[in-house]
Amino acid sequence: MIPDLKIILILTISFLLTPSLAASGQDLHRLWDDRCATCHSHSGEFSRQFLSVSNGELQGKHHTHDLRLFLKNHYLAGHSVDAVYNMLLAQTETEPRFKSECSSCHANAANFLRNSIILRDSVLYSRTLNIPVRDFLNGHRNLQPDDIEFFMQQLTRIAHEIFQP
Ligand code: HEC
Ligand code: HEC
Repeated sequence: MIPDLKIILILTISFLLTPSLAASGQDLHRLWDDRCATCHSHSGEFSRQFLSVSNGELQGKHHTHDLRLFLKNHYLAGHSVDAVYNMLLAQTETEPRFKSECSSCHANAANFLRNSIILRDSVLYSRTLNIPVRDFLNGHRNLQPDDIEFFMQQLTRIAHEIFQP
Protein backbone atom coordinates (compact mmCIF):
# COMPACT_ATOMS: atom_id res chain seq x y z
CA MET A 1 0.00 0.00 0.00
CA ILE A 2 2.59 2.54 1.07
CA PRO A 3 5.03 1.82 -1.85
CA ASP A 4 2.11 2.26 -4.31
CA LEU A 5 1.35 5.63 -2.86
CA LYS A 6 4.99 6.57 -3.22
CA ILE A 7 4.94 5.70 -6.91
CA ILE A 8 1.78 7.68 -7.48
CA LEU A 9 3.30 10.62 -5.68
CA ILE A 10 6.49 10.46 -7.78
CA LEU A 11 4.48 10.22 -11.01
CA THR A 12 2.32 13.16 -9.97
CA ILE A 13 5.29 15.30 -9.08
CA SER A 14 7.14 14.56 -12.31
CA PHE A 15 3.97 15.30 -14.27
CA LEU A 16 3.60 18.64 -12.50
CA LEU A 17 7.25 19.48 -13.16
CA THR A 18 7.19 18.69 -16.87
CA PRO A 19 5.72 21.99 -18.15
CA SER A 20 8.38 24.07 -16.38
CA LEU A 21 11.14 21.86 -17.76
CA ALA A 22 9.71 22.16 -21.26
CA ALA A 23 9.68 25.94 -20.90
CA SER A 24 13.37 26.09 -21.81
CA GLY A 25 12.24 25.48 -25.40
CA GLN A 26 9.79 28.34 -25.41
CA ASP A 27 8.74 30.52 -28.34
CA LEU A 28 11.39 33.27 -28.43
CA HIS A 29 9.07 35.85 -29.94
CA ARG A 30 6.55 35.23 -27.18
CA LEU A 31 9.34 35.51 -24.61
CA TRP A 32 10.27 38.88 -26.10
CA ASP A 33 6.64 40.04 -26.08
CA ASP A 34 6.22 38.95 -22.43
CA ARG A 35 9.51 40.14 -20.96
CA CYS A 36 11.04 42.78 -23.21
CA ALA A 37 8.39 44.48 -25.34
CA THR A 38 6.98 46.80 -22.64
CA CYS A 39 10.30 48.67 -22.67
CA HIS A 40 11.65 47.90 -26.15
CA SER A 41 8.53 47.47 -28.31
CA HIS A 42 8.89 45.31 -31.48
CA SER A 43 12.10 43.21 -31.46
CA GLY A 44 12.95 43.70 -35.14
CA GLU A 45 12.57 47.46 -34.95
CA PHE A 46 14.52 47.58 -31.69
CA SER A 47 17.37 45.55 -33.23
CA ARG A 48 17.62 47.67 -36.34
CA GLN A 49 17.50 50.91 -34.37
CA PHE A 50 19.83 50.14 -31.47
CA LEU A 51 22.00 47.19 -32.43
CA SER A 52 24.74 46.65 -34.98
CA VAL A 53 27.13 43.86 -35.91
CA SER A 54 30.90 44.20 -35.74
CA ASN A 55 33.20 41.26 -36.56
CA GLY A 56 30.20 38.97 -36.26
CA GLU A 57 29.47 40.18 -32.72
CA LEU A 58 26.33 42.02 -31.75
CA GLN A 59 26.81 45.49 -30.24
CA GLY A 60 24.39 47.86 -28.57
CA LYS A 61 24.46 51.63 -28.88
CA HIS A 62 25.19 51.82 -25.15
CA HIS A 63 26.54 48.34 -24.49
CA THR A 64 29.29 47.83 -27.00
CA HIS A 65 31.08 44.97 -25.25
CA ASP A 66 29.91 41.47 -24.48
CA LEU A 67 26.20 41.85 -25.06
CA ARG A 68 25.72 38.23 -23.97
CA LEU A 69 26.95 39.08 -20.49
CA PHE A 70 24.73 42.15 -20.42
CA LEU A 71 21.68 40.10 -21.45
CA LYS A 72 22.39 37.52 -18.78
CA ASN A 73 21.93 40.23 -16.15
CA HIS A 74 19.10 41.98 -17.94
CA TYR A 75 15.66 40.32 -17.62
CA LEU A 76 16.74 36.97 -19.07
CA ALA A 77 17.02 33.59 -17.44
CA GLY A 78 20.48 32.21 -18.25
CA HIS A 79 19.34 29.43 -20.55
CA SER A 80 17.70 31.80 -23.07
CA VAL A 81 20.65 34.14 -23.51
CA ASP A 82 22.24 32.48 -26.54
CA ALA A 83 18.89 31.96 -28.26
CA VAL A 84 17.81 35.59 -27.77
CA TYR A 85 21.27 36.85 -28.73
CA ASN A 86 21.09 34.89 -32.01
CA MET A 87 17.59 36.13 -32.72
CA LEU A 88 18.64 39.78 -32.23
CA LEU A 89 21.75 39.22 -34.35
CA ALA A 90 19.67 37.84 -37.22
CA GLN A 91 17.13 40.65 -36.93
CA THR A 92 19.85 43.28 -36.96
CA GLU A 93 21.10 41.87 -40.26
CA THR A 94 17.71 41.42 -41.92
CA GLU A 95 16.07 44.15 -43.97
CA PRO A 96 12.49 44.88 -42.82
CA ARG A 97 11.01 43.51 -46.03
CA PHE A 98 8.28 41.43 -44.40
CA LYS A 99 6.97 44.63 -42.83
CA SER A 100 7.06 46.62 -46.05
CA GLU A 101 5.97 43.93 -48.53
CA CYS A 102 3.81 41.44 -46.60
CA SER A 103 2.45 42.92 -43.38
CA SER A 104 -0.42 44.80 -45.03
CA CYS A 105 -2.08 41.37 -45.43
CA HIS A 106 -0.20 39.12 -42.97
CA ALA A 107 0.35 41.52 -40.02
CA ASN A 108 3.51 40.43 -38.22
CA ALA A 109 5.66 37.50 -39.27
CA ALA A 110 5.58 35.70 -35.91
CA ASN A 111 1.78 35.57 -35.69
CA PHE A 112 1.49 34.72 -39.37
CA LEU A 113 3.77 31.72 -38.83
CA ARG A 114 1.98 30.57 -35.68
CA ASN A 115 -1.41 30.71 -37.38
CA SER A 116 -0.73 29.69 -40.97
CA ILE A 117 2.49 27.70 -41.22
CA ILE A 118 3.72 24.29 -40.06
CA LEU A 119 7.38 23.39 -39.60
CA ARG A 120 7.92 19.73 -40.45
CA ASP A 121 11.45 18.23 -40.71
CA SER A 122 12.81 21.77 -41.10
CA VAL A 123 10.52 22.42 -44.10
CA LEU A 124 7.75 25.03 -44.00
CA TYR A 125 4.26 24.06 -45.16
CA SER A 126 1.08 26.07 -45.54
CA ARG A 127 -1.26 24.88 -42.79
CA THR A 128 -4.41 25.07 -44.91
CA LEU A 129 -3.07 24.15 -48.35
CA ASN A 130 -0.58 21.55 -46.99
CA ILE A 131 1.99 22.37 -49.68
CA PRO A 132 5.58 23.57 -49.15
CA VAL A 133 5.73 27.33 -48.66
CA ARG A 134 8.52 27.53 -51.26
CA ASP A 135 6.16 26.14 -53.91
CA PHE A 136 3.37 28.46 -52.83
CA LEU A 137 5.57 31.57 -52.97
CA ASN A 138 6.46 30.78 -56.55
CA GLY A 139 3.36 32.47 -57.95
CA HIS A 140 2.43 34.61 -54.94
CA ARG A 141 2.71 38.39 -55.23
CA ASN A 142 4.86 38.12 -58.34
CA LEU A 143 7.88 37.18 -56.21
CA GLN A 144 11.11 36.57 -58.14
CA PRO A 145 13.61 33.77 -57.29
CA ASP A 146 15.79 36.20 -55.25
CA ASP A 147 12.78 37.37 -53.28
CA ILE A 148 11.67 33.79 -52.61
CA GLU A 149 15.18 32.98 -51.36
CA PHE A 150 15.07 35.98 -49.03
CA PHE A 151 11.62 35.23 -47.59
CA MET A 152 12.27 31.49 -47.29
CA GLN A 153 15.41 32.21 -45.27
CA GLN A 154 13.66 34.71 -43.05
CA LEU A 155 10.49 32.67 -42.48
CA THR A 156 12.48 29.48 -41.81
CA ARG A 157 14.66 31.25 -39.27
CA ILE A 158 11.65 32.76 -37.45
CA ALA A 159 9.78 29.44 -37.56
CA HIS A 160 12.70 27.81 -35.72
CA GLU A 161 12.70 30.64 -33.17
CA ILE A 162 9.01 30.03 -32.57
CA PHE A 163 8.56 26.27 -32.87
CA GLN A 164 12.00 24.88 -31.94
CA PRO A 165 14.01 27.59 -30.20
C1 HEC B 1 11.89 47.71 -17.55
C2 HEC B 1 12.39 48.04 -18.85
C3 HEC B 1 13.22 47.00 -19.62
C4 HEC B 1 12.90 45.69 -19.85
C5 HEC B 1 11.71 44.89 -19.38
C6 HEC B 1 13.95 45.20 -20.71
N1 HEC B 1 14.86 46.18 -20.97
FE1 HEC B 1 16.49 46.03 -22.19
N2 HEC B 1 17.03 47.92 -21.71
C7 HEC B 1 16.31 48.79 -20.92
C8 HEC B 1 17.02 50.07 -20.83
C9 HEC B 1 16.54 51.29 -20.06
C10 HEC B 1 18.20 49.93 -21.59
C11 HEC B 1 19.28 50.93 -21.86
C12 HEC B 1 19.89 51.36 -20.60
C13 HEC B 1 21.09 50.62 -20.25
O1 HEC B 1 22.10 50.95 -20.83
O2 HEC B 1 21.03 49.68 -19.43
C14 HEC B 1 18.17 48.56 -22.13
C15 HEC B 1 19.15 48.04 -22.99
C16 HEC B 1 19.06 46.86 -23.66
C17 HEC B 1 19.99 46.39 -24.66
C18 HEC B 1 21.23 47.13 -25.13
C19 HEC B 1 20.85 48.23 -26.06
C20 HEC B 1 21.98 49.17 -26.34
O3 HEC B 1 21.74 50.12 -27.10
O4 HEC B 1 23.08 48.99 -25.82
C21 HEC B 1 19.54 45.17 -25.08
C22 HEC B 1 20.17 44.29 -26.16
C23 HEC B 1 18.35 44.85 -24.33
N3 HEC B 1 18.07 45.90 -23.48
C24 HEC B 1 17.63 43.70 -24.45
C25 HEC B 1 16.54 43.36 -23.65
C26 HEC B 1 15.89 42.07 -23.67
C27 HEC B 1 16.29 40.89 -24.56
C28 HEC B 1 14.88 42.12 -22.75
C29 HEC B 1 13.89 41.04 -22.37
C30 HEC B 1 14.45 39.76 -21.97
C31 HEC B 1 14.89 43.45 -22.16
N4 HEC B 1 15.93 44.15 -22.73
C32 HEC B 1 14.00 43.89 -21.21
C33 HEC B 1 15.10 48.52 -20.33
C34 HEC B 1 14.45 47.30 -20.32
C1 HEC C 1 -2.49 41.81 -50.79
C2 HEC C 1 -2.45 40.81 -49.75
C3 HEC C 1 -1.21 39.97 -49.58
C4 HEC C 1 0.12 40.36 -49.52
C5 HEC C 1 0.69 41.78 -49.63
C6 HEC C 1 0.88 39.16 -49.27
N1 HEC C 1 0.07 38.06 -49.19
FE1 HEC C 1 0.61 36.18 -48.71
N2 HEC C 1 -1.32 35.54 -48.85
C7 HEC C 1 -2.41 36.38 -49.12
C8 HEC C 1 -3.62 35.58 -49.08
C9 HEC C 1 -5.05 36.11 -49.31
C10 HEC C 1 -3.22 34.25 -48.79
C11 HEC C 1 -4.13 33.03 -48.63
C12 HEC C 1 -3.79 31.92 -49.56
C13 HEC C 1 -4.28 32.10 -50.99
O1 HEC C 1 -3.72 32.91 -51.74
O2 HEC C 1 -5.18 31.36 -51.36
C14 HEC C 1 -1.77 34.27 -48.65
C15 HEC C 1 -1.00 33.17 -48.33
C16 HEC C 1 0.36 33.19 -48.08
C17 HEC C 1 1.15 32.03 -47.73
C18 HEC C 1 0.67 30.62 -47.55
C19 HEC C 1 0.21 30.41 -46.14
C20 HEC C 1 -1.26 30.18 -46.06
O3 HEC C 1 -1.94 30.99 -45.40
O4 HEC C 1 -1.72 29.22 -46.66
C21 HEC C 1 2.44 32.47 -47.59
C22 HEC C 1 3.64 31.64 -47.16
C23 HEC C 1 2.44 33.88 -47.88
N3 HEC C 1 1.17 34.29 -48.19
C24 HEC C 1 3.58 34.65 -47.85
C25 HEC C 1 3.60 36.01 -48.17
C26 HEC C 1 4.81 36.80 -48.18
C27 HEC C 1 6.19 36.29 -47.81
C28 HEC C 1 4.43 38.06 -48.55
C29 HEC C 1 5.34 39.27 -48.75
C30 HEC C 1 6.31 39.15 -49.80
C31 HEC C 1 3.00 38.05 -48.78
N4 HEC C 1 2.53 36.78 -48.55
C32 HEC C 1 2.26 39.15 -49.15
C33 HEC C 1 -2.37 37.73 -49.33
C34 HEC C 1 -1.22 38.50 -49.36
